[in-house]
Amino acid sequence: MINAERVFHRLQELGKIGYREGGGVTRHAFTSEDRAAKDLVIKYMKEAGLEVREDAVGNVIGRREGKNPQAPVVLSGSHIDTVCDGGIFDGALGIIGAIEVLQTMNEQKVVTEHPIEVYAFNDEEGSRFSFSMFGSMGVIGRITEEDLAKKDRQGISVAEAMREQGYDPEKFRDAIRSPEELKAFIELHIEQGKVLESKNLSVGIVTGIVNELWMKIRVIGEAGHAGATPMNFRKDALVAAAEMVQVIEREAKKTGTTVATVGRLNVLPGGINIIPGQVEFTLDLRDISQEVSDKVEREIFKEIDRICQERGVRVETEILQRIPPAPCSKGFQLAAKRACEKIGLEYFCLPSGAGHDAMQMVNICPIGMIFVRSKDGISHNPAEWSSKEDCADGVKVLYHVLLETAVPIEDDSLCNEAVGC
Ligand code: GLV
Ligand code: MN
Ligand code: MN
Repeated sequence: MINAERVFHRLQELGKIGYREGGGVTRHAFTSEDRAAKDLVIKYMKEAGLEVREDAVGNVIGRREGKNPQAPVVLSGSHIDTVCDGGIFDGALGIIGAIEVLQTMNEQKVVTEHPIEVYAFNDEEGSRFSFSMFGSMGVIGRITEEDLAKKDRQGISVAEAMREQGYDPEKFRDAIRSPEELKAFIELHIEQGKVLESKNLSVGIVTGIVNELWMKIRVIGEAGHAGATPMNFRKDALVAAAEMVQVIEREAKKTGTTVATVGRLNVLPGGINIIPGQVEFTLDLRDISQEVSDKVEREIFKEIDRICQERGVRVETEILQRIPPAPCSKGFQLAAKRACEKIGLEYFCLPSGAGHDAMQMVNICPIGMIFVRSKDGISHNPAEWSSKEDCADGVKVLYHVLLETAVPIEDDSLCNEAVGC
């Protein structure tokens, strides 16, 4: 049986790493908190009877052997890092849930044809180096030398941060998995929205994941004396940026589906008596339709051009990442439906507004995702919460989907009867 207490205890224990009183959990890539969290996950994997290894880009992997070790591997898992002052469920549930599934299979002596591996992915959030999904990008072979040169706000590059933690950045290609060796990637995650709560359901089946466009926009005006420069002689970069932020909200709202966020804004030189000469802000733009997202992007930049002309400022842009929407395989959606029916759970099918490692994994194998209800839809916030019962429901669905995908061998002599949870 899925052990709900064990799952919840581990979530809370892992959630203490990087926690600060008065805030939330902060575990950024290649930090001591990140290392401590990985070590704890390694302990859980060993307790679950898994064979543990760590790859060249800092992903921790636990493997449960299949009857046929050469058969394509079924993957599950999620990310170990968090945003600044995040919660204890985002990412962690997918890792601890998958470990629980494999521990349960071992306890019940279930035999599967295919091996199953749990990935604790490194740096999904991208909070430190401003590009996300480093670990899963490493697995699909999308990391480049330029990525390794990207810097955090302290000026430390990815490669330097890796070296500090004992990794050899030059070996990053060793983390690549080929499509031939993989059967699927199934990720359990909290919903991070209010849909399941509004429907009074503990679990959801994900149909697809929205695209993700991240960029930096630098507005260049003219710094000047705050007292001596009359209002109509200014090229105030902050006032221009403020208008741009409003445009971003307005254009996203027009579609009814797009979401756009300015999450970081930096004013330079930042003096109380200096007209802002430069402002740099980030844009995060998402939609389940790439076409709609592209259209909103075009409209935003048409308006930004107008603002530049009216205010005598100019902009420079830097694309941090463009990830297309990722459809979840119909086959795994059906497997999750069968799982819910078996367990006696009602479910709802919904797209994911948040980004996930599955968006990278879709490039090398079919993906599936299962959601667990989030209290008040809150996430990326210390108040993030999912109940023990809801987490257990999600893990049960994951159990059945992984079992079906890895193909249970029911007549094997080692095998107890294939067990329901
Ligand atoms: C990750 O949580 C993201 O969607 O940005
Ligand atoms: Mn997140
Ligand atoms: Mn997440």
